[in-house]
Amino acid sequence: MKIVTLLGSPRLKKNSATIANRFTETAAALGAETRTFELNRLVYRGCQGCYACKKGDEHCVLTDDLTEVLAAVREADVVVLASPVYYGDVTAQLKGFIDRCYSYLTPDYLTNPLPSRLGPKKLVMVLVQGHPDESLFADIFPRYDGFLKWMGFTETRLIRACGIGPASVDAVPDALLQQAEEAARALTA
Ligand SMILES: Cc1cc2nc3c(=O)[nH]c(=O)nc-3n(C[C@H](O)[C@H](O)[C@H](O)COP(=O)(O)O)c2cc1C
Repeated sequence: MKIVTLLGSPRLKKNSATIANRFTETAAALGAETRTFELNRLVYRGCQGCYACKKGDEHCVLTDDLTEVLAAVREADVVVLASPVYYGDVTAQLKGFIDRCYSYLTPDYLTNPLPSRLGPKKLVMVLVQGHPDESLFADIFPRYDGFLKWMGFTETRLIRACGIGPASVDAVPDALLQQAEEAARALTA
């Protein structure tokens, strides 16, 4: 079982990273092979819309620090995407990766019943927001989930924390860490 975790926050030891790390630590203790990428440390461009991945190339033709990340995700059984909410969305760091995932789609993805070059995978999204109102930014996961399912992430789940951040209490409640542990146990079973 291979688990690849992408940390989308520039705060590498804070809220979303703490939840994601608890997931990977739990999975590792159960025997999973885990690998974590700190996106904020990497240098990469957003998708250039060159369509090379739809005109003969099976991979993204850009060569930068995301090349290794995209290859690792291809090999993974479970992928964890962790991000704080920034202006009602994931961080630019994570969105940059998501756009490059366009290379996982086949040229005929609009009509092909099997539109992804990825084998079936599971995915966990970790989203943390400062605002305590759960109805705010509740659209983020469902919005990305449709694209993720299309790309081959057949089983997806969300771990969401509201009302934590520098403006309030900068600590992850135990209940959320337990949720991360439960998710790790369920997905590595
Ligand atoms: C640039 C920026 C934009 C933010 N935008 C939002 C937002 O739209 N909604 C919200 O609830 N919190 C917002 N926050 C607060 C973060 O989501 C919150 O502090 C989060 O817990 C940080 O997670 P981290 O510790 O993993 O970086 C924003 C913070 C920053 C720095």
